[in-house]
Amino acid sequence: MEEQPKTKRLFGRRKGRPLRAGRASLMDTLLPKVGIAIPAIVDTDNPSLRATPAKAGGSVAIHLPHLPPSLLSDSLGDGLPRRFGLTASAPRNDGALNPFALFDAVPEAVRLEIGFGGGEHLAAQAAANPSVGFMGCEPFINGVAKLLTQIEAQDLKNIRIYPDDARVLLDALPDACLDMCFVLYADPWPKNRHAERRFIGKENLDRLARVLKSDGQLRLATDVAALAQWMREQTNAHPSFACVYDGPNAPTDWVPTRYEQKGIAAGRTPTYLVYKRR
Ligand SMILES: C[S@@+](CC[C@H](N)C(=O)[O-])C[C@H]1O[C@@H](n2cnc3c(N)ncnc32)[C@H](O)[C@@H]1O
Repeated sequence: MEEQPKTKRLFGRRKGRPLRAGRASLMDTLLPKVGIAIPAIVDTDNPSLRATPAKAGGSVAIHLPHLPPSLLSDSLGDGLPRRFGLTASAPRNDGALNPFALFDAVPEAVRLEIGFGGGEHLAAQAAANPSVGFMGCEPFINGVAKLLTQIEAQDLKNIRIYPDDARVLLDALPDACLDMCFVLYADPWPKNRHAERRFIGKENLDRLARVLKSDGQLRLATDVAALAQWMREQTNAHPSFACVYDGPNAPTDWVPTRYEQKGIAAGRTPTYLVYKRR
């Protein structure tokens, strides 16, 4: 089996308080319908191996007891049982996941939000743009459950959720398939020695550059000045991105995120960074 690229460990919380009954129930009933399942890599020369032992390199060790079994296993009807990428599995890097095929109606474009938190921004964007498909990644299960309540309450048809590390989803997407990516109020990891945990950095900018269409947009926001400076330096230095806005004014179609609202209420000033994929 070909050696797979290493995905670094994911830092951050997976679970908070126990889910309320209604939310736990949506994890069982709605998440299987709107969840994105990424087939783990199968060694077709040796089907008995089936999937992705950790030795395939860089597995993401993930244990999510709340996730429904339907997202953890499936059979694709080709005789090869497949496990899906929520448990330890090597990340795909083969563009096998067609994001346009995830939705009931083929969307006119697909956008991705990484680290959607409670999903307020994603739900509002999806409601405002019904012909666009939205994918959201969030490993914090309480946030996923909160987004599910909004999908249900607003009957949103155009959201699909990957309840896990965005890097795995990014590596499964084909080249140049997304119109827009949002990374909003990412964890700042303020200590210098934790800089490599910040989501925006060379490696993830390479991933984002690969999946964004030419002229596609990367939107970043934060109210932590040091993180703004870090993201600005990293993204300005990347050959695939050109800065189109850097300042305190949100884009006209902006929807404030929960962290943003908390920051503004506490007197912090947001910085918005908008980049175009060259
Ligand atoms: C500070 S919170 C901001 C949440 C939301 N964007 C907001 O503004 O309200 C950052 C979020 O990014 C998520 N996150 C961190 N690393 C991630 C990764 N590799 N893939 C997807 N989400 C990630 C965290 O779980 C957390 O919910």
